[in-house]
Amino acid sequence: MSNDPKQRIFSGMQPTGSIHLGNYLGAFRNWVKLQDEYDAIYCIVDLHAMTIDYDPVDLERARIEAAKVLLALGVDPDRSLLYAQSQVPEHAELAWILGTLTPMGVLNRMTQFKDKTSAGHASNLGLYSYPVLMAADILLYRANLVPVGDDQRQHIETTRDLAERFNNRFGDIFPIPEPYIPTTSARVMSLTDPTAKMSKSDPQIRATVGLLDDPDIIRKRIRSAVTDSDPVVRYDTEAKPGISNLLEIMAGCTGRTIDSLVVEYGDGGYGAFKDAVAEAVVEELAPVKAGYTSITNGDVRAVLRSSGDRAREMVKPYQAEVHNAVGLKAY
Ligand code: TYM
Repeated sequence: MSNDPKQRIFSGMQPTGSIHLGNYLGAFRNWVKLQDEYDAIYCIVDLHAMTIDYDPVDLERARIEAAKVLLALGVDPDRSLLYAQSQVPEHAELAWILGTLTPMGVLNRMTQFKDKTSAGHASNLGLYSYPVLMAADILLYRANLVPVGDDQRQHIETTRDLAERFNNRFGDIFPIPEPYIPTTSARVMSLTDPTAKMSKSDPQIRATVGLLDDPDIIRKRIRSAVTDSDPVVRYDTEAKPGISNLLEIMAGCTGRTIDSLVVEYGDGGYGAFKDAVAEAVVEELAPVKAGYTSITNGDVRAVLRSSGDRAREMVKPYQAEVHNAVGLKAY
């Protein structure tokens, strides 16, 4: 057996909107799975959630809700840290330091800023520099691996780029992190518009399956998912984005390959296929709701408090090293 210390993973989620099947299949399922093998740090990124218009009372509710869902999914606070970003001020401090190394041109290319502002969100400095704070989240803990959905690919690229810029300028401090993205269901699409990503902020309630939705709601949403009119079940994201999305979802929930699903459901019609997808999702999510209702808000606060304390201790020596490297030695 190797005595090497475990590699570290870091990932985050924004406490905004309701947590959906895409978050689960793209990321959270891996968060739970990777806890055995890695030293895992999971963060409710409340500072990121402030970059779009929000209600302070709602933010507090959403932080607790997000942490409760993650605990219900199986994030284990005895093995992993689960805390809120604002509990560790060094996230914001490192973001400032990295910001001094970030060319405007890099941020100008970020698709998330363009998407959010063209969707009507006010542009502000926080939203513009969102990827720098995200890089700080990951680099603060010297993470090696970042389990995320496909939509975060560009942000991880920027993180790698900033780590390299920092190391080149100040010495080899940060490992260059790798994304960990699932091979199926890495980008779950909206059920009402399968050319757009399933999103927590989608105003169309029928577009998503929430992780805490009742089985009958889940069945209804999947049965009414937008598809095409040619009734053959096959994988073709251009010609059949709706059916391809349902194939991805079913493959993600059952662990089966898309090819085997096409063989089984190809000629059976959309109705039978959608019923099978719905049952697979209902079965996969059944334990989440049961776990969720057994956790109190007090339990969640206790986990956040203790993980936050541990995270603050953990980052002290790391940040001292960064301070020394950039010329901010302690007096
Ligand atoms: P957030 O809160 O939007 O989403 C949480 C995770 O869910 C994944 N995801 C999806 N995966 C598949 N299909 C979808 N439709 C889908 N929608 C969301 C996301 O990829 C993510 O992994 N910027 C991040 C939060 C963040 C972060 C970090 C992540 C801040 N700092 C550091 C990793 C490391 C975000 O907005 O995730």
